[in-house]
Amino acid sequence: FHDVEESWDDEFKSLVQTFPKEKSWTGSNFYFYQGFWCPSIVLRAVIAFQKHFQACDSDIIVSTFPKCGTTWLKALTFSTLYRNQFAWDENPLLTFGPHQLVRFLEYDLYLNNPFPDLQNVCVYQPRLLSTHLPYASLPTSIKDSNSKIVFICRNPLDMFISLWSFLYMLGDESLEPLSLDEAFDKFYHGIYAYGPFFDHVLGYWKASQENPNKILFLKYEDLKEDINSQLKNLAMFLGVPFTDDEEKQGVVEEIAKICSFENLKEVEVNKKGVHISGIPHTGFFRKGKVGDWSNYLTPFMVERLEKLIQEKMHSSGLTF
Ligand code: A3P
Repeated sequence: FHDVEESWDDEFKSLVQTFPKEKSWTGSNFYFYQGFWCPSIVLRAVIAFQKHFQACDSDIIVSTFPKCGTTWLKALTFSTLYRNQFAWDENPLLTFGPHQLVRFLEYDLYLNNPFPDLQNVCVYQPRLLSTHLPYASLPTSIKDSNSKIVFICRNPLDMFISLWSFLYMLGDESLEPLSLDEAFDKFYHGIYAYGPFFDHVLGYWKASQENPNKILFLKYEDLKEDINSQLKNLAMFLGVPFTDDEEKQGVVEEIAKICSFENLKEVEVNKKGVHISGIPHTGFFRKGKVGDWSNYLTPFMVERLEKLIQEKMHSSGLTF
């Protein structure tokens, strides 16, 4: 992770020098690019993705804020969209991790290659790809085509604890892990991958209100509360609604079950595999609960964050 900047050529280095810079939570750098803190590891890939990606009208993009349920949404979208393309007991999710089946554009496909062969990468059709980029920074062809975006976010208090735990687990052994107090300070100031959270989420929220047929805006908590109706909603949005027969046969419940935290966590590849970025798949499955923040945050931290949420969200109509 830390050596990536050494591989940058002089032209790219001088471009990057113009961006504000901060230390990330794990000792690498974030660069403030187009209004968000971009991890140095993906900066080049983000720019290549923006420059070269050509969306097709049929593309589906899973777009998320990190630690808000990306892994879950990938599994759900994959299983719903392609449910008639494989036998039920042969769902690829039983053999591959959600991040291997729905690949990240900037964290994976464009990571070391400005011109990845997307046709070969996407085994199933229509293409299903994913990103953490804010709406404003998406390649124009995604915004201008008829491609669809499925977005998920989450209560920022839970997202913060999920992120801190994730990075703590990933921590470079030569570095002291960031204490919760230090992480809170950075979090409060929006300094984390793709932060600030509020700008990112509100970008998708506004775009989804303007164009609800293009962007489906989901919340982790709503999925937790009633996965079956959220799945029906998702299938409808993707243009593959569940038929009456499917509903009678329990297909919705089956998808919910196969994609559940309890099930995916126990799949061999998710217990032992490693993502292309070097992150063990186990890192994507921690507790899968709503409200876990209450086990970590002090009343003072909660009060500050609640004030911040109120300040950033109050006129948006979006609540957590
Ligand atoms: P916690 O750290 O709170 O447990 P992302 O996939 O965006 O990285 O988000 C990770 C969060 O989603 C983690 O939250 C993880 O446990 C949770 N998660 C992963 N798979 C899930 C699933 N199938 N159902 C519900 N939550 C899931």
